[in-house]
Amino acid sequence: MKLASRLDKLPPYLFVEINRRIAELEAKGKEIIDFGIGDPDLPTPSHIIERMCQAAHDPANHRYPETDGLPELRQAIADWYERRFGVNLNPAKEVLPLLGSKEGIGHIALCFIEPGDLALVPDPGYPPFSLGTILAGGGPYFMPLKEENDFLPNFDVIPDGVADRAKLMWLNYPNNPTGATADLDFFGKAVHFAQRHGLAICHDAPYTEVTFDGYKAPSFMQVPDARNVGVEFHSLSKTYHMTGWRIGMVVGNADMVNALFRVKSNLDSGVPQAIQYAAVEALRGSQEHIAEHNAIFQRRRDRLLRVLNQIGLEARMPKATFYVWTKIPPGYTSMDFARKLLDEVGIAVTPGTGYGKQGEGYVRFSLTISDDHLEEGVNRLSAWHGRKR
Ligand SMILES: Cc1ncc(COP(=O)(O)O)c(C=O)c1O
Repeated sequence: MKLASRLDKLPPYLFVEINRRIAELEAKGKEIIDFGIGDPDLPTPSHIIERMCQAAHDPANHRYPETDGLPELRQAIADWYERRFGVNLNPAKEVLPLLGSKEGIGHIALCFIEPGDLALVPDPGYPPFSLGTILAGGGPYFMPLKEENDFLPNFDVIPDGVADRAKLMWLNYPNNPTGATADLDFFGKAVHFAQRHGLAICHDAPYTEVTFDGYKAPSFMQVPDARNVGVEFHSLSKTYHMTGWRIGMVVGNADMVNALFRVKSNLDSGVPQAIQYAAVEALRGSQEHIAEHNAIFQRRRDRLLRVLNQIGLEARMPKATFYVWTKIPPGYTSMDFARKLLDEVGIAVTPGTGYGKQGEGYVRFSLTISDDHLEEGVNRLSAWHGRKR
């Protein structure tokens, strides 16, 4: 058997070592407090589950779905964009449901990237942006997200030769892993840059509804020319705590949406219909739980930040996302520091380098753990700091 050489181009999975160490410690009876994964601990709201169960009993939903989804779902997505962002979308041409946004993020590279092509990718960034590009035979050109630029890429330093060669640019705000946000002025600059260099933009926006302190995140699609050059990926995962049900969407430029539809219609058969009906219920039903969940994450954010500051670990207060991007003390790599927290404190965090070279010097705490575990985690951090002094 000979595996394709493209697999050799995939970088080693950095979390393997951390996961192995967690398993070893747990086998010895140690309870690890896991600040690592970004997967909401709070359940999917019950009205959504009830709609899914009802739809699951209907034999019409036991058959193959269509790749482009139920018209009701595409309309519900378009209406949600209109209500939430004032963005008017054509549900027949500018909306496509996905099997979770990660699926579409990976597959869209196949629509743009030829062997040897470049995609502009943020560093640190959500790994599928670069991995999709690599699997399509291209290469990422990393745009550093620096703290002094509020974790926004600086388009002015991208060489013209690179920008002209690139086919795609990935952006993601509110941002994983830094928690940074972007305004419409920034998105406008991105559109202008894309028009100047003839490239397409993919904006990934699953965290627009996970916001704090009254902040309301914009959509890339609110920029007047955005739909001429790009699409936005969104998801029900984080807004409605539906990570396990796998449903997201891409909206925007009709040609890009259609290109992704053509790839997907040859690879998958769409989102199970009971889940599509649950998504319609999520988008159209009560939105009250969003504020309730955000209040919980905000309280956890404040609790964690207070302790991090007390023990001398510097972190910016994120206005959105459930991530706290934390500077590590000098003298460690982010991997060493994550290992140290695991071994000495019994808490798991994600090393910044899991998101790219520019993640060196940081670790990411996720707030998607129970209040009890969070409390235990921060108490362990304080006690550890006390012991060191
Ligand atoms: C930036 C970003 N994009 C996309 C996703 C994937 O979301 P989904 O569950 O819709 O595949 C995640 C999940 O962690 C994410 O952090």
